[in-house]
Amino acid sequence: MKLKWDDSLELGIEKLDEQRKMLFEKINKSFQDLKFDKQDELTNNQEIKKKLDDLFYFLTDYFATHFKIEEEFHREYNIDGYEKHKRLHQEIIETVNQLKYEFLNSDEKAIDETVFAEIESQVLILWKQHIRQEDMDLKEAVENK
Ligand SMILES: [Fe+2]
Repeated sequence: MKLKWDDSLELGIEKLDEQRKMLFEKINKSFQDLKFDKQDELTNNQEIKKKLDDLFYFLTDYFATHFKIEEEFHREYNIDGYEKHKRLHQEIIETVNQLKYEFLNSDEKAIDETVFAEIESQVLILWKQHIRQEDMDLKEAVENK
């Protein structure tokens, strides 16, 4: 899957939109790299593990920072349901941590692109839905400022 950015995902807050676009690009690049490796005879599981390792560290770091900034906007615009929204962010972070934990504890030989499929189905699709549904309150608040 290629993560596609489109206008319906924009909040109108440059800082957040730019970070999100960057994450989409990073994910796409990671997926692409892995595909390339699979076709390349030189590839080995250690390399794949290293790439996934980097991706997980990037994701946990990214989400923690990004959600914190987003939550500051929620406070600034005094949006209802702050605590609930914060909890939803927390759930996404916990899912990433859970996958990361499973990945770090799995046998190197068993690691393949199914990890990407899991990241995709458990994190990215959920996060895209979150942007489309939950974050629109923020978009509205910005537009009606
Ligand atoms: Fe959010």
